[in-house]
Amino acid sequence: METFLGYDDVIKKFFSSGEGHLFEHWNELSATERKEFIEELSHIDFRLVTELKSLIKRESHVEMQFEPAPYISLNPLSDEYARAKEVGESHLRNGKVAAFVVAGGQGSRLGYEGPKGCYPLGEISGKSLFQIHAEKILKYSQKYGVRIPWLIMTSQSNHHQTVEFLRSHNNFGIEPSDLFIFSQAMVPSLDLDGKLVLESPTRLFKNPDGHGGSLTALASSGVLDALIGRGIETISYFQVDNPLVKIIDPVFIGVHLLQNAEVSSKGLPKIGPEEKIGVFVNFPNGRLGVIEYSDLPEERAKERDADGKLKFLMGSPAIHLFQCEFIRKITSEGQVRLPFHIAKKKLKVWKQGTVVEIDGLKFEKFVFDAIPLAERSIVFEMRREEEFAPVKNLTGVDSVESARALMNNLFKEWLTKKGIEIPPKVRIVEISPLLAVEAEDLPQIAIPNKEMVYLE
Ligand code: UD1
Repeated sequence: METFLGYDDVIKKFFSSGEGHLFEHWNELSATERKEFIEELSHIDFRLVTELKSLIKRESHVEMQFEPAPYISLNPLSDEYARAKEVGESHLRNGKVAAFVVAGGQGSRLGYEGPKGCYPLGEISGKSLFQIHAEKILKYSQKYGVRIPWLIMTSQSNHHQTVEFLRSHNNFGIEPSDLFIFSQAMVPSLDLDGKLVLESPTRLFKNPDGHGGSLTALASSGVLDALIGRGIETISYFQVDNPLVKIIDPVFIGVHLLQNAEVSSKGLPKIGPEEKIGVFVNFPNGRLGVIEYSDLPEERAKERDADGKLKFLMGSPAIHLFQCEFIRKITSEGQVRLPFHIAKKKLKVWKQGTVVEIDGLKFEKFVFDAIPLAERSIVFEMRREEEFAPVKNLTGVDSVESARALMNNLFKEWLTKKGIEIPPKVRIVEISPLLAVEAEDLPQIAIPNKEMVYLE
């Protein structure tokens, strides 16, 4: 085979590692393409590839031992609740909190080409998920008289589009100095024989390293140091696909601080054993964690207490608080050693001069696997109707449709709570986050008697 001076080492390395098939099309590549291809290959981390290969070779995994995690539930009328709120609000006013959204995913399951955060979710306003989140942050900033940094983690596949989308909308009002956008790392995908595959003649097939990559990306991008330098102590973590999330929740923050937790997580009672959310567990070493729904054996998911309640009741809406110092500690060696989870997926790979679909393996890290690394962590029960409306599909369960219905219900609940009358013709209410992020923010207003009412 014809090679270029200086490329030999890279090529030899791939042949000696059993990856020579990647060069099948070498003779058809132009000089520029060869350069590009070798450049791409020279960045591959062989230690990582060996680790991934060893994962798929493991015959069977060890049965994990776990019991349900304990959780904290506070009555909103209790003294503890009021105390937590006070502590959380003071932490916020002192500028100690940043908001962090993981947004590396695409909107493909919604039939939408582009980053999921750009999806126009607002039923009347057409506001995107990013705009809804940004405006909440602005409202919290106004309420607590403080600037709240907004961190957005993207992936290589949507970074450029996300940056462009925010820029073209003037960051929805967030000051550029309060906005931190950074990308997560990529991991090579493999075919079922454990071989590397190509995405195009000059690029390897890779996938984003999962939201578990967010903690490493936070540190390696320099954002963590910048935040600590600004006096931030607590990071409020959420997923881009939940328009109801209380991005900043003073009560949750207060409980987290009073418990001196390194990581705190919100939990909600599962609707039934089959609901597709991770569950909180307690491992034999006393550390808490989450078992993903797909990894929880069916018989365990169905276990019930003597009183008929699900034993593994607390599900994870993927809302966490991380102490900055905890992230610094676990990333001190450059990256957090979180386990990879393997998912069998269809991959569109480049093979023998054309694109073909094959069965392949993607490797991802999950952020909740950092919970067992915390010496002190808690689960705090929340009300589902107030802050969980996952948008995973276009229609049906956990969809655009169901999220809009949940938003409508909550907004009407706020009006009722505030003693504001909803006239009979009103079917849909949407409230701009700039007006209210909770019932108590609403002014006493008269609602017009028409089908769709947008309050801003
Ligand atoms: C996720 C959680 C599940 C939780 C549920 C709540 C996992 C594996 N499971 O399920 O425990 O109960 O949400 O709605 O996450 N993301 C990235 N980079 C990636 C992968 C994902 O930023 O590499 C982001 C996505 O943009 C999204 C979030 O992580 O904001 C969740 O990803 P998704 O794949 O939708 O997770 P689910 O399986 O729905």
